[in-house]
Amino acid sequence: MKTAIRGSIVSFRDDPFLVGEEDFLYYEQDGLVVMEAGKITAVGPADRLLPTLGDDVPVTRYGDGLILPGFIDCHVHYPQTQIIGAYGKQLIDWLNKYTFVAEQNFSDRDHASLAAHLFLKEALASGTTTASVFCTVDPVSVDAFFEQSVRAGMRNIAGKVLMDRHAPAALLDTAQTGYDQTKALIEKWHGKGRSLYSVTPRFAPTSTPEQMEMTGAVWKEHPGTYLQSHISENLKEIEWVKELYPDQQGYLDVYEAFGQLGPRAIYGHGVHLKERECQRLHETGTALAHCPTSNMFLGSGLFRVRNAAKAARPVRVGLATDLGAGTSFSMLRTMGEAYKVAQLGGASLNAFEAFYLATRGAAKALYLEDTIGSIAPGMEADMVVLDLKATELLRYRLQGVNSLEEQLFVLMTLADSEIVRATYVAGEVAASRNSESGRVSF
Ligand code: GUN
Ligand code: ZN
Repeated sequence: MKTAIRGSIVSFRDDPFLVGEEDFLYYEQDGLVVMEAGKITAVGPADRLLPTLGDDVPVTRYGDGLILPGFIDCHVHYPQTQIIGAYGKQLIDWLNKYTFVAEQNFSDRDHASLAAHLFLKEALASGTTTASVFCTVDPVSVDAFFEQSVRAGMRNIAGKVLMDRHAPAALLDTAQTGYDQTKALIEKWHGKGRSLYSVTPRFAPTSTPEQMEMTGAVWKEHPGTYLQSHISENLKEIEWVKELYPDQQGYLDVYEAFGQLGPRAIYGHGVHLKERECQRLHETGTALAHCPTSNMFLGSGLFRVRNAAKAARPVRVGLATDLGAGTSFSMLRTMGEAYKVAQLGGASLNAFEAFYLATRGAAKALYLEDTIGSIAPGMEADMVVLDLKATELLRYRLQGVNSLEEQLFVLMTLADSEIVRATYVAGEVAASRNSESGRVSF
């Protein structure tokens, strides 16, 4: 059935890090998005498109609504939902003290299903329609996640963590079982509904060279699947990788040696990468996920997003929450923190760049820019509608604003999930908040 939504529309046609506003921005002050069978079929000014619609096409009007592509979270751990805000340590201690404890509960199917449901509900309530998700080492955690994701009709990417050393025994697989389980899960879930599978070695320190080898092999044997991991997040982690892989010059070389770079590979963090490594990411088409709330929370360091995206050798970068080291489901909050991280690093991030990193830029990092991340005919109809009058403070603050860029900047500074009026997944309302109840339904 054909449906339509009406409001202001903001989307990106191109990369604001590389081209000017007249080329990258799509903005319609009073726009209409027409959808059918899960896809966008027409977008344009409401006064031009409305007369072309039949009288029977329902049009939902969002008076003070800003319609954006659904947010894309490029790196997140659903099993860590219960340890968000665990106090006081940097990466390795935090992993041992909290993460590896929480993740052991995910061989219990009910525990995993409950966490997956809550995670997806919160993501949708925050306007996030796609995420690249780490499960745990247990295939049960992957089944639980994809079952909920397929039910929600979402285009999510996820995979079983591969880890055969340096973690509690209950969380370890072996090179062989990791390979076998990954292969079986790819066959079960990749392409089921809108699901996509990501081969998921946790990071180089928790896999033996043998497992790293088999991980590269299973990824190569399944074209179209993803690969996700972590890189250069924390200085002690980098030292540890040097000790464990003394033959490799740097951290990225470890992944390269085991065939883990290329299109559809995405690495979280990259805070401390060297220029040589950025060059190599660019050359191989490997992407980075920028996780500002996580980097601040664990005291990992300041990712230099402008350096990563620079025109001379652009690396594909998407924004990410990295929950549970990250502290918010909201990509708006995450954009606000990305701005502050850039400030501390001596280079600002403007509102267009930040929104791009959470939409089309993230889709590009995931090689999905022809499918999601923009509002244009032919794209899947995943969108978020923000309510610019959601709170008294926002209403008051936006009175003094004169341009779209300023408006977006205020949103990423001041707003969070509570301004999400509706989230559309494949053309259907998957979460909504109405002013009477203030509740989310999913
Ligand atoms: N490096 C390896 N595993 C993890 C994880 O779960 N979270 C973060 N932030 N970094 C990691
Ligand atoms: Zn992570």
